[in-house]
Amino acid sequence: MTWDRRHLLDVDEMSVDDLSDIMRGAERMQQGLSDLGEPLEDELCDARVALLFAEPSTRTRISFEVAARNLAAETLVLEAASSSLVKGESLVDTVRNLDAIGIEMLVLRHHRAGAPWVAARYFGGAVINAGDGWHAHPTQALLDLLTLREAFGIEGGEAVEGSLRGRKVVVVGDVLHSRVARSNIWTLTAAGAELWLCGPSPLLRGFDELSRSMPADRRFTVTDDFDAALRDADAVMALRVQRERMAKGAVSFDDYVTGYQVTEARLGRARPGAWFLHPGPVNEGIEVTRGVARGPRSLVLEQVRNGVPIRMSVLARLQRPVRPVPDQASSPTRDLSSALR
Ligand code: CP
Repeated sequence: MTWDRRHLLDVDEMSVDDLSDIMRGAERMQQGLSDLGEPLEDELCDARVALLFAEPSTRTRISFEVAARNLAAETLVLEAASSSLVKGESLVDTVRNLDAIGIEMLVLRHHRAGAPWVAARYFGGAVINAGDGWHAHPTQALLDLLTLREAFGIEGGEAVEGSLRGRKVVVVGDVLHSRVARSNIWTLTAAGAELWLCGPSPLLRGFDELSRSMPADRRFTVTDDFDAALRDADAVMALRVQRERMAKGAVSFDDYVTGYQVTEARLGRARPGAWFLHPGPVNEGIEVTRGVARGPRSLVLEQVRNGVPIRMSVLARLQRPVRPVPDQASSPTRDLSSALR
């Protein structure tokens, strides 16, 4: 099923039906099936998909490329560091040029919040946000939702609405600077999870207000009390500690590790069998011990694996641009061939 929208900029613009549709699509794609239940072939037949990454990435970049190729798209990678952006060309001009070349889908990661929205104004095709500043990381939130659904044994095809009701999910760490946390707030509360955001209080600034601004049935708890957050938790998602920001003194690095590192002992205070998640990159020994990160309750690599079917499901749903068909009677090819006759 194709959506009637061109872009995927954030999950907060998606309805719960859209979320269900993405989950069902991803579950089918895990089985190598199209939305029609037929073997996957060439859903994006020769579409030109450009990946423009103006910030480092391993998981998102590679899994978007694998996802696009699995759907028979042609992928083109533009590394910002080797593009004309370093010569001072603006993002807007870069996007206009990619459009002129005939790129149909643009997967964009950018250090500036809002960059994908700017790109979408100037690009004739589909723009997919692969992470913008602290702001949003929609496909990460979607793959996290798929991973939790699978871990909790939710049947493929079940609607998202209410599917995590009764499940307590804790997101712990540098929430303030996390685009993953911001996008997960939307998807996890849409699924009805009891969501807790936890970390040192300077790294939770503004989230109480955000919770109060949400509809009553989508509010979440914000706390610096990790023990309270862990009690009865079904899943704990740690966020990357952004050393560069810790170094600026918002929170002491040592205090963070002492108070908020996810250890075996702490995970043991959650509900028996609680899952551990992390969007990556993981700093083992900092936000989590190696034992937890690589242990039997860790879903870290499952999250990475699920990145491919989720991104396939997204790419397959976005509308491709309808490019003007050249007028055959006046096309240069026609003129040239008659001149050669
Ligand atoms: N989770 C995530 O966005 O990882 P990358 O930065 O490696 O893409």
